Amino acid sequence: MNPLHSRWRRVIFAALLCLIWRPLAVAADEPGLTKEQIKQFLLTAKVVHSQRSEKGVTHPWRLTLSDGTVTHDASFQSIDEHKATMKLTNSTELKFVDSYTYNIAAYALAELIGLDDMLPVYVERKWGGNIGSLSWWLAVKMDEGERLKQKLEPPDADAWNNQMYKMRVFDQLISDSDPNLTNVLIGENWKVWRIDFTRAFRLTKDLNDPKKNLVRCDRQLLEKLKALDANALTEKTKKYLTKDEVKAVMARRDKIVAHFQNLITEKGESEVLY
Ligand SMILES: Nc1ncnc2c1ncn2[C@@H]1O[C@H](COP(=O)(O)OP(=O)(O)OP(=O)(O)O)[C@@H](O)[C@H]1O
Ligand SMILES: [Mg+2]
Repeated sequence: MNPLHSRWRRVIFAALLCLIWRPLAVAADEPGLTKEQIKQFLLTAKVVHSQRSEKGVTHPWRLTLSDGTVTHDASFQSIDEHKATMKLTNSTELKFVDSYTYNIAAYALAELIGLDDMLPVYVERKWGGNIGSLSWWLAVKMDEGERLKQKLEPPDADAWNNQMYKMRVFDQLISDSDPNLTNVLIGENWKVWRIDFTRAFRLTKDLNDPKKNLVRCDRQLLEKLKALDANALTEKTKKYLTKDEVKAVMARRDKIVAHFQNLITEKGESEVLY
């Protein structure tokens, strides 16, 4: 056989192989990793590209990380602002903190109460000379602000509400002073994600309008809330939350549980728990 023909054949064969393999290589970019594998990836993978986000007030960085096998984006937030007083639109906040550390604390708390499927994995990492939180980039379709603007209704109202009830409980527990609509993201099949907790963990021991905000509760979540242990929370968040911040979480936990117990007495369990 003409050696030139044979070489061309090999080249064409190799090109075809590349075409077949390419989708597999791309699919590996969105792997079915466990939470632990995602944590390790975020902690150790090399940053191969960086770009400032257009969205948000603090414009966190969108980084692309690669460990040679997996390539995935992550959001890097390094804000760590502490002020005695902070003037906000309608109020003044004392002992104001806006810090990436609360992103990591929120994820740790979500793990303790079984809500970590609602948050991207957050770890602490140093990049570009700064320490910050790094979260696994979520493939989302829109945020809650865009959904409302476009007047889009989720196809399964019950499934949607059940996710929202859980999120509201979490928001009360962490006392987020900035729970805006760009921090609620909507993914595949109307899966709801909650991100950005840099202004959470306020010191208040009160809930924010529980009558309006806490209407129903997932059964398992209520059990997990009851079982939440101050020592376990202290241990898991010791680098990120002060004693007073942990105390405030526990006080709000007590009030959330009491609130639902009262509601159950008043309306019956089936009206309140699902
Ligand atoms: N892990 C993630 N996956 C997908 N998108 C993300 C992620 N983290 C952040 N984003 C996107 O980047 C935007 C800004 O991020 P983030 O909310 O952390 O910053 P911010 O400046 O603190 O925002 P805010 O305006 O709420 O104060 C988010 O609204 C969201 O659209
Ligand atoms: Mg935000």
